[in-house]
Amino acid sequence: MHKRTVVVTGASSGIGLATAQRFASAGDQVVNFDLRPPAGDAGAGEWVEVDVTDWAAVGAAVDRVAETHGSVDVAIANAGISLRRTFLEMTEKDVRALLDINLMGVIGLWQAAARHMVAARSGVLLATASTNGSAGYPYYADYNASKAAVLALARTLALELSPHVRTACVSPGYVMTPMQRAEYTDEMLAEVNARIPAGRHADPAEIAEAFHFLASPQARFITGQQLIVDGGELAGGTASSHGVVFGSQDQ
Ligand SMILES: NC(=O)c1ccc[n+]([C@@H]2O[C@H](COP(=O)([O-])OP(=O)(O)OC[C@H]3O[C@@H](n4cnc5c(N)ncnc54)[C@H](O)[C@@H]3O)[C@@H](O)[C@H]2O)c1
Repeated sequence: MHKRTVVVTGASSGIGLATAQRFASAGDQVVNFDLRPPAGDAGAGEWVEVDVTDWAAVGAAVDRVAETHGSVDVAIANAGISLRRTFLEMTEKDVRALLDINLMGVIGLWQAAARHMVAARSGVLLATASTNGSAGYPYYADYNASKAAVLALARTLALELSPHVRTACVSPGYVMTPMQRAEYTDEMLAEVNARIPAGRHADPAEIAEAFHFLASPQARFITGQQLIVDGGELAGGTASSHGVVFGSQDQ
């Protein structure tokens, strides 16, 4: 396979970092658009300081990547935040801030990359959605809506940009990343793990593997879809899993 140019947003941490490392280890040139650099020497490829909510900055950075590397082959809109609070506690300011990153940030990157991909008649637009885009989860109403919107975006662009440009989302369930660690106490983590058929959170590398597959020629007939990587969480519906302790047969 030829060396591809892969842009990943939010690749200084968590899922984005693991994804950047996966593509780089396969020989691709990776460019990380993030607010901050990766910690230590963990990063893969080159870091460009970009705020995904700033479309002008994203557009200029994508153009620079195309100019420097010759093409933008894969664009992965991964940067995202989540805020845990009840619907009634939400403020206009924090909901707009979340949607600006989780939804506007995806549209901005995908549009900037698609301009190059359509001209080149080749490319793959990917994003990190979530199981929260397909089921309701309390205390994350705006986050859930942002992820459902990203799934809708992928479906729509599959129609507008086919056959040369493909779109797809990876929808992780619970993944052990700094974002997740910061929001959950040990007790909350144990309670969540007990509701996941696989009995644990995903490792970020397991999500990265899904991105790598979707970007590959082996996935060339897949567009407009999501690949759910959730350890079975959605298989029975979240409501049906309440009260069931998976893995209890092991004790
Ligand atoms: N962790 C999970 O369990 C989980 C599950 C499903 C989906 N996701 C999604 O995966 C994605 C990555 O999450 P993570 O858990 O790896 O989080 P993380 O906090 O570890 O990493 C997010 C990265 O995005 C960057 N970022 C945030 N705002 C930005 C902005 N405005 N511009 C540029 N970069 C910005 C951060 O600096 C950080 O490096 C998010 O879209 C999240 O919604 C996470």
